[in-house]
Amino acid sequence: MAIEFKNPVLKWIEYRLPIFSFINDSVGTNYPTPRNLNYWWNFGSLAGVVLGILIVTGIFLAMNYTANVDYAFISVERIMRDVNYGWLLRYLHMNGGSMFFILVYIHMFRGMYYGSYKAPRELLWMIGVFLLLAMMATAFVGYVLPWGQMSFWGATVITNLFSAIPLIGESIVTWLWGGFSVDNPTLNRFFAFHYLLPFIIFGLVVVHIWALHVHKSNNPLGIDPKGPEDMIPFHPYYTIKDIFGMAVFMVFFLWFVFFAPDFFGEADNYIEANPMVTPTHIVPEWYFLPFYAILRAFTVDFLWIPAKLWGVIGMFGSVLILLFLPWLDRSKVRSAKFRPYYRMAFWIFFANSLVLGYVGSQPPEGFLITLGQWATGYYFAYFVIIIPLVSLLEPARVLPDSIAQAVMKPVAAETGEGR
Ligand code: HEM
Repeated sequence: MAIEFKNPVLKWIEYRLPIFSFINDSVGTNYPTPRNLNYWWNFGSLAGVVLGILIVTGIFLAMNYTANVDYAFISVERIMRDVNYGWLLRYLHMNGGSMFFILVYIHMFRGMYYGSYKAPRELLWMIGVFLLLAMMATAFVGYVLPWGQMSFWGATVITNLFSAIPLIGESIVTWLWGGFSVDNPTLNRFFAFHYLLPFIIFGLVVVHIWALHVHKSNNPLGIDPKGPEDMIPFHPYYTIKDIFGMAVFMVFFLWFVFFAPDFFGEADNYIEANPMVTPTHIVPEWYFLPFYAILRAFTVDFLWIPAKLWGVIGMFGSVLILLFLPWLDRSKVRSAKFRPYYRMAFWIFFANSLVLGYVGSQPPEGFLITLGQWATGYYFAYFVIIIPLVSLLEPARVLPDSIAQAVMKPVAAETGEGR
């Protein structure tokens, strides 16, 4: 819908490039949104803001960083000590990475709870899974850049996993490294990828939002809007709600930046990389821990496939299986509010993910090995057995007739009062 401007400059621009009506149709008064979105719907826009912070701080860090094994570690030290506000740039970037994963994990669990992955939002969900993969790749290569002990050994362990692939595995690893160990060529290419991938993420986010805008947001009830009384304009209702959420989130984020900047980090990464000294306990960043636990849960060779390869298949499979979620869940009801069995399985899945995270953070010994195996078992069973079964067996629930009917006082719903 074209906007009529009095201001001649705005009018001139709008006539040639209808950018203002585009914004208004996307996040303005002309974008209808379900009237009942709760705070769990804040997390997508929060993730978008953190992506912006990461890109901006990253560009300024790159101006002062040196991607060479002889200088990388001290160039980061210089950023911390000598570059004006370098410490702030680095702490915002480091903690921003952790925040990005916290927000996106919450965003995904929200989608799973309210069935946002179901028709017609399957592709929106799948683009989300590709976003997660791109984020993981970016975080992995980024962690190598400071060239600390954990950078080096994390990169060595994870890239070595590809050697489990039969016949071509060793060649793939050499190709990834650009040599015969993690060394200068590896650091250089990881820096190139770490600079490139965020822009790919940005492009994917644009497509993600495009897909979102076709069928609009799902909502806590999971039912389709029936008419205009179910919707409210994005602006001012959700702009103000997003800004409020942003303010609360910034307090949380900046608390870590200013008061506990190394909370999510690893002390060993303040020791320069040394290929001759292996740390006693190599752990990835916290957001990889559940997947790391799945990787290590496979301890026996099975069906002529060595345990190590099973681990690699399990780890990648645990992310890729999310792509199939819209088809594994056959239930027509979206929201877990109306699916008691699914709700129970979901919360166990959530707790199970925390257990996997804990197991991933600990050395694989004794009882923890068994616990990791059970938790890995539940992770996959949730997708391939529990969800399909629950969606077939669950008794049908009565859904509300409309969003307005469910969330407004009866009188208000009839008279339109308060709209
Ligand atoms: C860079 C990371 C991401 C950004 C910036 C992002 C951004 C957004 C935004 C702004 C929205 C609309 C607001 C909201 O519903 O919260 C949204 C919706 C959605 N996103 Fe994401 N997203 C990201 C990653 C993901 C991932 C990893 C998934 C799933 C694997 C995902 C799945 C969805 C779904 C299903 C919706 C629709 C939700 C609904 O309407 O109920 N997103 N995203």
